[in-house]
Amino acid sequence: MEITFYGHSCFLLKIGEHKVLVDPFIKGNPLATDKVNIDEISCDFILVTHAHNDHVADLETIAKNNQDALLISNYEIVGYYTNLGITGYPMNVGGEKKFDFGKVKCVNAVHSSVFADGTYGGAPMGYIVSTDHGNVYIAGDTSLTMDMRLIPEFEPQLRAAILPIGDNFTMGYDDALRAANYISCNQVIGCHFDTFPFIEIDHEEAKQRFESGGMDLILPEIGQTYTV
Ligand code: NI
Ligand code: MN
Repeated sequence: MEITFYGHSCFLLKIGEHKVLVDPFIKGNPLATDKVNIDEISCDFILVTHAHNDHVADLETIAKNNQDALLISNYEIVGYYTNLGITGYPMNVGGEKKFDFGKVKCVNAVHSSVFADGTYGGAPMGYIVSTDHGNVYIAGDTSLTMDMRLIPEFEPQLRAAILPIGDNFTMGYDDALRAANYISCNQVIGCHFDTFPFIEIDHEEAKQRFESGGMDLILPEIGQTYTV
């Protein structure tokens, strides 16, 4: 599986012939806006963890540029975008569904979820994506939770985990290291860091912490692709 970072928590997963875009927020990201052209993004699925604007701001534009793309998210988020003419598949925490690219299982995330206009955004979620090209866990915005200990029971062979590490609004890198142990995955791709002053982190310290814990932390560069 190839994972391209578009900044903040936005990733494009290339899974065989399929492309799954996660949490589209680019134009409003001061670090990404000059590096990624949203009109050049092609995808056939859009996976969204929760309704906060730093995860959905460019969803409508990208979905309309990719008319056949299917939005996968919680019931409330899918309902919101259905009203805007975007096709979606609604799920909720605990649910599992097979799509063309692989299986998605919705897991708990401890956070909040509301749209910029105040509309209720349902429960925030993380996703386990299991495919013929490797399995990944996308935590979404969340604190460290004991529920993460269930993840290796659902999917014992994770190639990588995309975990928030920026602290303040989500877990920081120390808790992300604990999470990596809970989920039995030694390759972590960090996200939700540096975008805003609230979540700026010390890169060297974060990498050192993971190294001394026997885990690998990738601090992805915007526009770079990582094979897992
Ligand atoms: Ni959030
Ligand atoms: Mn966020």
